[in-house]
Amino acid sequence: MKATAPAATAPGSAGPSSAALELDGLTAGHGQAPAVRELDLRVAAGEIVALLGPNGAGKTTTLDTVCGVLPPLAGQVNVFGHPVRDLRQAARQRIAYVPEHRGLFRDLTVEENLRLRARTRRKVQAVYDRFDVLGALRDRQTGLLSGGEQQLLALVCALSLDARLLLIDEMTMGLAPMVVSGLVDIVKEVAAEGVAVLFVEQHLHIALELCDRAYVLSHGRCVREGTGGELRHRVDELASLYFAGDPSLGR
Ligand SMILES: Nc1ncnc2c1ncn2[C@@H]1O[C@H](COP(=O)(O)OP(=O)(O)O)[C@@H](O)[C@H]1O
Ligand SMILES: [Mg+2]
Repeated sequence: MKATAPAATAPGSAGPSSAALELDGLTAGHGQAPAVRELDLRVAAGEIVALLGPNGAGKTTTLDTVCGVLPPLAGQVNVFGHPVRDLRQAARQRIAYVPEHRGLFRDLTVEENLRLRARTRRKVQAVYDRFDVLGALRDRQTGLLSGGEQQLLALVCALSLDARLLLIDEMTMGLAPMVVSGLVDIVKEVAAEGVAVLFVEQHLHIALELCDRAYVLSHGRCVREGTGGELRHRVDELASLYFAGDPSLGR
């Protein structure tokens, strides 16, 4: 089964490919040991795609490879039609990455974290105008913020350089339900503005409600893909895959 993504219409410099993100036969991992094998995946501009699977399935490895932290061992990573093999190419394609541990400087204030990423006062002010909660916390040490406030700051920092492709690892881990719903709304808003979103999420129900489509990894291979609606009907089967890490659920 192969899901078809709607054509992306990225402004400006889209290459011959129509997808915001296109993985073709991606094999990736640390050193020479593949943790992800022959993965085909697409995300269109404005689309929200979930990357699911049990611990150790290869989700973080996939995101690390898309954003140029890890070079692919085989296959292709294309972002708006341009290959990405390192951090510089990823930055040029305006890929924003919120890593699992959020990538913030915990000893710096909110404002200092924002200034490092957004660079100009005008952009920092635009963040405060949109997210007044961050304006109220501007002088607070980042390590003292709640988990939800840190995740919001991490998301905003990642997006602050006019991102076109947003990658989020373990989006809601450890966060209270009210905080989660606020983050979900922001991700929807960002996608509605045309940003392509690929996120990793342990909570199946949250992921399948939010996403347009999802891919499920097990032992580094894609074992399921479909729309959020299709996969919601199979949520028990997916949950058992999480608990058992069962490779027999392969297609
Ligand atoms: N820095 C690393 N060095 C070597 N192997 C790693 C490293 N990080 C992850 N791995 C291995 O790669 C596989 C996939 O890990 P990961 O992508 O982190 O999975 P997930 O994010 O789905 O939990 C696992 O077997 C893990 O042990
Ligand atoms: Mg991970």
